[in-house]
Amino acid sequence: MKRVDDFRLRFGRKELVPIIVGGMGVDISTAELAIEAARLGGIGHISDAMVQDVSDRRFDTSFVKEKTKLYKHNIDNSDKSVVQFDLARLAEATKLHVGQTMEAKRGEGLVFLNCMEKLTMNSPRDTLQVRLNSALEAGIDGITLSAGLHLGSFGLMADQPRFRDAKLGIIVSSVRALQIFLRKNARLNRLPDYVVVEGPLAGGHLGFGLDWDRYDLATILAEISQYLKTEKLDIPLIAAGGIFTGSDATAFLENGAAAVQVATRFTVAQECGLPAKVKQEYFRASEEDIVVNTISPTGYPMRMLRSTPAIGSGIRPNCEAYGYLLDGNGNCAYINAYNQQIALHPDGKNISVMDKTCLCTHMRNYNCWTCGSTTYRLKDTTRRLPDGSYQVLTTEHIFRDYQFGVDQQVALPE
Ligand SMILES: Cc1cc2nc3c(=O)[nH]c(=O)nc-3n(C[C@H](O)[C@H](O)[C@H](O)COP(=O)(O)O)c2cc1C
Repeated sequence: MKRVDDFRLRFGRKELVPIIVGGMGVDISTAELAIEAARLGGIGHISDAMVQDVSDRRFDTSFVKEKTKLYKHNIDNSDKSVVQFDLARLAEATKLHVGQTMEAKRGEGLVFLNCMEKLTMNSPRDTLQVRLNSALEAGIDGITLSAGLHLGSFGLMADQPRFRDAKLGIIVSSVRALQIFLRKNARLNRLPDYVVVEGPLAGGHLGFGLDWDRYDLATILAEISQYLKTEKLDIPLIAAGGIFTGSDATAFLENGAAAVQVATRFTVAQECGLPAKVKQEYFRASEEDIVVNTISPTGYPMRMLRSTPAIGSGIRPNCEAYGYLLDGNGNCAYINAYNQQIALHPDGKNISVMDKTCLCTHMRNYNCWTCGSTTYRLKDTTRRLPDGSYQVLTTEHIFRDYQFGVDQQVALPE
């Protein structure tokens, strides 16, 4: 009987265990988690979501404090167009986060950066350009483009010396998205090194509408594989979304996927950035507790636990400190939703905003409990401790369970 370890993901002469731990912003897939995945011979992702805040926490810098101070005068103004990121400071934070991670990396595996286009940061093109090029400069092994079509992202990196040597990939959820991406980038003569095909069962934002349950990963993967064959393009495909066991992963590898990208199982790893209490919420979740809603200001549906504190929270927009979701004109859908409530309750007390959430603040505080559709099965991957809580697992244990698991078995911890 085959298992994941019988397969290898090949990039040129480099061979990797075909397990990729997906990016989980904001700092849920920590450097420690990504470094472990690399040490074990696979690929781990860090994320550059809210990188200035992440840097402040990791390295005691004060990027957020400085930005808040600079724009303090604007806090009561609903027009956030003046709140701009200092590009030099953004580059500095990115290089710190990426550079220190790469320095700490051990072993044969790789560490990639998950870079979401939807973090438009009040100046989409400039900030994205800085994020991508700073990460390359700081030595990241590869970049996974996500949450957006990324039609211009390769172009933004084309002059960087590492553009053709770093591994660059994109996440898509349909053959159409990939077709558009390839067409728009044809003139650069640089194909993606891999394509992550993310189905509707994933965590985080979904590349589907609210009719996500009409789609399935195996079908989309087959369509994309057929398309690449027709076009005579040889690009490794990575299957993602709802792959819970080693046997699930093996089935995709036997059907032509070059690797799998997984995340939900690692949300309860010691090295995962979620606070201990939140990990227990994930363990305890039942199937009915997992919902897909539209509270993210990005416009993409997002999967999360129903008990997520971010749902219905009416906090004041925090764009002077953060502002990662401001579009090029200083707008964010949360600001509009918040202002509507303020108009109804001018004292601003105890307001609840149901339509949208302040995703920056809540992701930053681990109060938006986004998760994959298999989260309710996490409790079956561990033991219950005498105090009733669930035992947190090591990244190594989960990784090895994917690598060697057969027969739909999940290995319990010692
Ligand atoms: C808690 C959590 C946060 C996530 N955050 C991101 C993110 O910031 N960017 C992204 O591209 N994907 C994100 N994802 C998606 C994962 O990288 C991955 O592709 C997907 O969840 C794999 O499916 P699985 O969780 O069923 O294994 C997130 C997933 C989870 C569970």
